Amino acid sequence: MRILITGGAGFIASHIAERFVRAGHEVTVLDNLSHGDARRIPPQARLLQADLLSPQVGDLFKAWKPEVVCHHAAQIDVSTSLKQPLTDAATNILGTLALLLHCRNHGTRKIIYASSAAVYGTPLYLPVDENHPVKPLSFYGISKHSPEHYIEAYSSLYGLDYTILRYANVYGPRQDPTGEGGVISIFLNKLARGETPVIYGSGNQTRDFIYVQDIVSANAAALTAGSRQTLNVSCNRSTSVNELLHMLCRLSGRTVTPEYKPAQPGDIVHSVLSNRAAAASLNWTPRYSVLEGLKDTLASIGD
Ligand SMILES: NC(=O)c1ccc[n+]([C@@H]2O[C@H](COP(=O)([O-])OP(=O)(O)OC[C@H]3O[C@@H](n4cnc5c(N)ncnc54)[C@H](O)[C@@H]3O)[C@@H](O)[C@H]2O)c1
Repeated sequence: MRILITGGAGFIASHIAERFVRAGHEVTVLDNLSHGDARRIPPQARLLQADLLSPQVGDLFKAWKPEVVCHHAAQIDVSTSLKQPLTDAATNILGTLALLLHCRNHGTRKIIYASSAAVYGTPLYLPVDENHPVKPLSFYGISKHSPEHYIEAYSSLYGLDYTILRYANVYGPRQDPTGEGGVISIFLNKLARGETPVIYGSGNQTRDFIYVQDIVSANAAALTAGSRQTLNVSCNRSTSVNELLHMLCRLSGRTVTPEYKPAQPGDIVHSVLSNRAAAASLNWTPRYSVLEGLKDTLASIGD
């Protein structure tokens, strides 16, 4: 298949690019390298270094006619979305809309869209399934959710197939520990530097952590399954931040006492996503426990 992977120089989609290339697909990565690194892109894939909104993207669609668009390029930082809502919306909403226009104009069969658990806001019940009300708490949550509507409308109006994947907390090699990167990459970075990790609140707050290779396999399954579905991609397991740090210390043979600071306003206490619908529609299940994923992540450091 000819697959355009947006954001393929970033954390998650660079792993997807590797898997798709290995499976024999023809891959082009579209990334403006604002938060990515071209060295992560497998050599068999082509890079178009351009913004989602650039006219070069239309030229690429015209010349290359991708069959599937696997859309991961995004502004991913919650606090940036609060400080610069226009930039956030331009990338996440208008950027997706621009891709949809190209898909329609050039006969793309399907879009796979990387959405987020952030669309749900504070859970009203657990595990959060796809019927849970959507009430984002940040502009990032809004800008990840709005494209879902455009995608559904493009599908019903013009026949574009889609799978929307709402990811839980993704972790693994190449995740950026700076800014508001995932807590796992932040802890790993602190441990590697011999610094004290900070935990906001009691540390008993829980999240659903999913290893990046399980996200990759959900995307691979979505190439041929999950038609016109919106699916959570998660482990359906909750792990507290304290447990997480404990596991990381055990695996890396270190002992640290974290510094506890007051919980940040708006922090969600418990979050876990049901993955039953993805299991049924994609014939997919996550293969990595948190411990196994952490082991792999630690082993990759220094690669
Ligand atoms: N990391 C997570 O835990 C998580 C959870 C839920 C959803 N997601 C979604 O998964 C996707 C990938 O996230 P990630 O963690 O790999 O982020 P990332 O920042 O590592 O990757 C995003 C990539 O998009 C590129 N990009 C940003 N703006 C662009 C633009 N205007 N034009 C072209 N390229 C642009 C960046 O350079 C970067 O390489 C995002 O859509 C994100 O919302 C991530």
